[in-house]
Amino acid sequence: MASFRLGMIGCGTVGSGVLEILHRRRDALKRLLGRGIEVARIAVRDPDRPRHQVYGFVDPDVFTGNVARVIEDDSIELLVEVAGGVDAPRDWMVEALRRGKDVVTANKATLAFHGEEIFQVARECGRSVYYEASVAAAIPIIEMLQNGLVANQVTRVLAILNGTCNYILTRMELDGVDYGVALRQAQEKGFAEADPTLDVSGEDAAHKLALLARIFTHSYVPVDRIFTEGIQRISREDMAFAEDLRYRIKLLAIAKLSEEGAWDLRVHPAMIARDSILAQVQEEYNAAYVKGDAAGPMLIYGNGAGSFPTASSVVADIVRAVKGDRPVNGEEPQESVQLVPIENVSLRNYIRTIVLDVPGVLGRITSHFGMRGISIASIRQPEAKVGQPVPVVLVTHKAPDKVVTDSLCELERVGLLLEPPTRIRIEE
Ligand code: HSE
Repeated sequence: MASFRLGMIGCGTVGSGVLEILHRRRDALKRLLGRGIEVARIAVRDPDRPRHQVYGFVDPDVFTGNVARVIEDDSIELLVEVAGGVDAPRDWMVEALRRGKDVVTANKATLAFHGEEIFQVARECGRSVYYEASVAAAIPIIEMLQNGLVANQVTRVLAILNGTCNYILTRMELDGVDYGVALRQAQEKGFAEADPTLDVSGEDAAHKLALLARIFTHSYVPVDRIFTEGIQRISREDMAFAEDLRYRIKLLAIAKLSEEGAWDLRVHPAMIARDSILAQVQEEYNAAYVKGDAAGPMLIYGNGAGSFPTASSVVADIVRAVKGDRPVNGEEPQESVQLVPIENVSLRNYIRTIVLDVPGVLGRITSHFGMRGISIASIRQPEAKVGQPVPVVLVTHKAPDKVVTDSLCELERVGLLLEPPTRIRIEE
């Protein structure tokens, strides 16, 4: 049987991993599929740049600077998009689908913003979009939600979906390095997006949560409706206080189904119990705690970023496409999702600020919260010198998010604080 011809756009961290795996596993994949896989064309920004690391896996003359040579080549059956970006990949995917190609992509940003249109075009054209690699790299979480848990009403997901943030938080905690140093290390290791702001701002995790939520809510979930906060303001002091309080700080992607049938969807740094399962997920690893009404709770864990882990899922999707397995995601969203606004979510909070150690300051702060109905569960203040700045850490009992947010804004205006407070939500 003739080889299956695919075309790729992009050949960076993920693309080069895909080429190496296809080469390494060539014989095994051929046995499995009954035909070989040929990478017929690869579009890259600069085709003349030497790419010695992949020349052992593909011929140098497959490279082109012209994406049309991939998309418009009718002998190519599948487009593998691993270039990144948001709008241009949308155009490539739509055009490839219209020309009768299936699409494999690792691009969560494009799918989060343009997924509805792309899936609609795929339905119209009878083609498929495979995107396992776009969420949690090597972890087959899309497969799990689309197929393995299809009998369930998923009621809860608590997930670590950004490898870069998890790596940064781990290095800050274990090595005591600053945020900037840890971020540079994550970039050097190839975990971060081309624009790492997407990682540290929580947006990348929100894109991934939107894609997952689309599956388990059976609805289109606009990414801008997911409350999103990043890790940029987390400091070494917060790490130390978290340890003292028996918590660990993680960037969590959260989905909870309320009794009324609305979804609480959010991404933010959260303090979680140090002995909880998710707190053990360190370095660039990702994990998702998923609860289904029939299956009960489960945890899926693995490499969430990097060349081979992401390429592993891209190649799995290539195999699905060659076999003609049609993903369930082609279905049209059935319902419009009801969301719980962040303002109404009631959580405990960690609040850290710096004050001058003068008589009455703690009393004024606690009564500020008390007057607004926020009950303080604990206060920490290290030994201070009179008249000197000193950190103060408060842990609140559960309070509606908006009440806490408004109280912190008002407290800043009162003039007691020497720096704006850091607030980290506590997820039990
Ligand atoms: N930048 C992403 C992360 C890569 O750090 O998780 C995988 O999507």
